[in-house]
Amino acid sequence: MLHTLRSVEDFYRQHSWLRQMRETCPVWLDERSGCWHVFRYNDVYRVITDYASFSSEKPKTSSAAGSSILSMDPPRHKQYRNLVAYAFTPRALARLSERIAVLTQELLDKIRFKGQMDLVADFAYQLPTIVIAEMLGVPASDRSLFKRWTDVLLNHQVDDAELFRPDLALETDDIEHTYEELKEYLEEALKERQSNPKEDMMSDLLAVEMEGKRLSMEERVNFCRILLLAGHLTTTNLLSSGIWCFDGQPGLIEQLRKRPELMPGAIEEVLRYAAPGWRITRMARTDVKLAEVTIPAGAAIFAWLASANWDSTQFSDPDSFDVARSPNKHLTFGHGIHFCIGAPLARMEATIALSMLLEQLPQLCLIDRAALEPFEGTTLFGFKRMPVTFVPQT
Ligand code: HEM
Repeated sequence: MLHTLRSVEDFYRQHSWLRQMRETCPVWLDERSGCWHVFRYNDVYRVITDYASFSSEKPKTSSAAGSSILSMDPPRHKQYRNLVAYAFTPRALARLSERIAVLTQELLDKIRFKGQMDLVADFAYQLPTIVIAEMLGVPASDRSLFKRWTDVLLNHQVDDAELFRPDLALETDDIEHTYEELKEYLEEALKERQSNPKEDMMSDLLAVEMEGKRLSMEERVNFCRILLLAGHLTTTNLLSSGIWCFDGQPGLIEQLRKRPELMPGAIEEVLRYAAPGWRITRMARTDVKLAEVTIPAGAAIFAWLASANWDSTQFSDPDSFDVARSPNKHLTFGHGIHFCIGAPLARMEATIALSMLLEQLPQLCLIDRAALEPFEGTTLFGFKRMPVTFVPQT
């Protein structure tokens, strides 16, 4: 049965259901919702990469939200992605890495002397907004404004099922209003850079040009907005699940502290084992056969990334968390033309932040693993709160 996650036990129950589905019913029609579910690695891979058969287009849930790169198909997707890819060049990321260390230090300085904290509220939720704001070029003085907008938008977690039933999607005035405020703010900031370019992504978005084409103002605003929505909670969950996974292996935190070169591999394993997103969506363009089952044209499909990541045909002993796992071809960032554009940033941010956290907070450990509460939906996996203790620093 598809589980509503209320406890850590439910994470393991969900995974045992996914394993059962991979073994007995790899392509499943949920009669209640009319949506199809795909569980095996090879089938998930096909659904997310074969854009000729599976479209990324979805009905819009908010008039103010605008369309995003995530729901575009070729050829429009390619043109748009080529334009925005300039904002994620190694040069742009190198510019950010030092800032991420400084921003992480600012957060650590507020908590190091306390001896305990909620790792989600005090650290993992905060860092990604500040980093995205910084990357775009939002000045520190506007951070609280930016954080308020992010809080409203992220609290409005639309479950994927609603994307295919727009009549179910709740559209509150607050969300419409927040989108409007954010749009006005970004338009203003972009216009200012037209006359006064800076070393930031908003200036890059104004300058990029390919084959004589530039982004329209609406496209630029939409891109800034999607960075916030696609890059925030996912990274928050990666950071907190990282500590959850490390804490679950006796001696691992100490080992990572002594051998920081193990951290990138450890983060890949967190991405596989506790993927921040359970599944992504597609729409069948035509009738399409998958694992001997025909999915009808127009059907909504959930491709379970988290299930693919635990598929024993691809990963030996998939239920074990193994920092030395190699190769580790998890599908957590998707694959193909929509492969996560922010993956290098998320990896870099997690490596810097988790290394600094372990280094500066000795004997970091979870207060009560069994009492942790995950988010309830079936789209994102992460924890609402994560109380931890450590030796306070003066
Ligand atoms: C796309 C996951 C962090 C921006 C995607 C996709 C996945 C994903 C699965 C593909 C969706 C699809 O095929 O439908 C994640 C995870 C992250 C993360 C697990 C953190 C651990 C970020 C960050 C940013 C970002 C930090 C930017 C600041 C995007 C964008 C796309 C995307 C713009 C759309 C790319 C396209 O459609 O061509 N992400 N993401 N993501 N992600 Fe991420």
